[in-house]
Amino acid sequence: MAINASFRREIEKRRTFGIISHPDAGKTTLTEKLLLFGGAIQVAGAVKSNKIKRSATSDFMEIERQRGISVATSVMAFEYGGKMINILDTPGHKDFAEDTYRTLTAVDSVIVVIDVAKGVEQQTKKLVEVSRMRDTPIIVFVNKLDREGKDGFDLLDEIEQDLGLQVCPLSWPVGMGQRFQGVYNIFEKNLILFSAHGKQEGDDITKIQDLNSPILDQLIGAQAAEELRNDIHTIQEIYPAFDREDYLQGKLSPVFFGSAINNFGVKELLDCFVQIAPPPLPRHTEERIIRPEEDRLTGFVFKIHANMDPKHRDRIAFLRVCSGIFRRNTNYLHVRQDRKIKFSNPTAFMASKKSIVDEAYPGDIVGLYDSGNFIIGDGITEGEKIHFKGIPQFSPEQFRLVINQDPLRYKQLHKGLTQLMDEGVAQLFVKEDNNQKIIGTVGALQFDVIQYRLQHEYGASCTYETLHIYKACWIEILDEEDYKKFYTRKKKDIAKDKHDQLVYLAESAWSLKMTQENYLGIKLHFKSEF
Ligand code: G4P
Repeated sequence: MAINASFRREIEKRRTFGIISHPDAGKTTLTEKLLLFGGAIQVAGAVKSNKIKRSATSDFMEIERQRGISVATSVMAFEYGGKMINILDTPGHKDFAEDTYRTLTAVDSVIVVIDVAKGVEQQTKKLVEVSRMRDTPIIVFVNKLDREGKDGFDLLDEIEQDLGLQVCPLSWPVGMGQRFQGVYNIFEKNLILFSAHGKQEGDDITKIQDLNSPILDQLIGAQAAEELRNDIHTIQEIYPAFDREDYLQGKLSPVFFGSAINNFGVKELLDCFVQIAPPPLPRHTEERIIRPEEDRLTGFVFKIHANMDPKHRDRIAFLRVCSGIFRRNTNYLHVRQDRKIKFSNPTAFMASKKSIVDEAYPGDIVGLYDSGNFIIGDGITEGEKIHFKGIPQFSPEQFRLVINQDPLRYKQLHKGLTQLMDEGVAQLFVKEDNNQKIIGTVGALQFDVIQYRLQHEYGASCTYETLHIYKACWIEILDEEDYKKFYTRKKKDIAKDKHDQLVYLAESAWSLKMTQENYLGIKLHFKSEF
């Protein structure tokens, strides 16, 4: 296929991004408002929060319920301002952080939501850290300005220090909580006043070319006007002016203020987003860099979702199209399995509707029905053997030994564990000394989920023994002789991950430090790609 103008236009139109936040900062609310603007939903409340609500049901039954709705909200596509926007949903619960990390490999930019009262929280830090590993462009939205919170400048300091982002405010609040009057849009130089009913009307936008104009005093009162003038003056002195190149390189993060629930400041965010956010970016593979405008299809699987019905073991693999045009009923190469594969019912996601697609472009996400052929990270091409990079595993936080409770059903247990790990529910490590299986997760909830799903979907039962492992570190061998010594001494702490990569399971921070000091011929990494 020749590269033509319409193909380029399709690529240029795509904006694929993720919204990340600490639970409760307002990610679901903001997503919903964006979808309302895009006309993808008509009423508020249509997007189900995918967070685990504190409720009477036990946590893991709640997870099963969430699993049912999260397919629908995995990708939400809509058109706005002439752009095709794909929002990739990320699980809110911290125990599912791994899932979020992987989704972040499929986006081109992110919006971070921060609660004005709580500031930078634990989960925000982790997710921004992962985004920064790939220099993903980041926009910050400070939410809940209708409530009392931290001082704007203190918050910007916190964002710079705790998240390591160079910020550049593009909007600025006039008061907050009871005194919240609106936001001054620095990007477009206009003042938007907050109305009591919470709607953001076109009439409320007053263009202020000159902040010294007395109209400002009339609109928001002399004291607030004076404060705003001083604040904007300070901003101009301390913060760099917005530079799109710096933003695109992940070096500068614009900050917006607003209140998602009141739909305030959201349109400014979205209007700016469609102007500045990057179209589909090139992707790195072990062999070469893939550019979206290349005519041959490439894509990779970043998420796998199992069917809820145990009788139907099919799953949906989420493919990010990286280059070329994905076409239905066309033969492609499944690189890892080295065989041809074609898809008769690929689905696209328009808000909560799913529909069969005939064509998909770079930046788009396609859902592929899969009977167990895919694992996370798999690539699809038109024949080229390329291996996508940038989907690393991180050290889990909790480790348990799997104990089979039914020796006659070992095969089922093995198959179940393998498939659940392919889905990315947790990480499996097989010990070098005795082949025992260890599961590693970010949070305790997954252990219950795995046990439940093994029983219900595979008829296998297991229990766990808690292991005191501090970290899993991926081993890079610099010197074979030194590695052999290390292997002989530490065999009981060495395992292989599901890609047969060697991993050292350090018992404590101290043993990790000692190992690093004693064996200079090996290098230990906290992620599987180095
Ligand atoms: P999350 O996805 O990041 O976890 O957050 P979510 O949008 O579910 O919002 C968490 C809570 O914060 C919700 O209240 C939501 O209504 C509230 N919220 C979101 N944006 C704003 C805002 O701009 N101002 C104020 N004051 N609150 C906001 P909840 O009581 O936990 O849930 P709900 O019963 O309202 O759904």
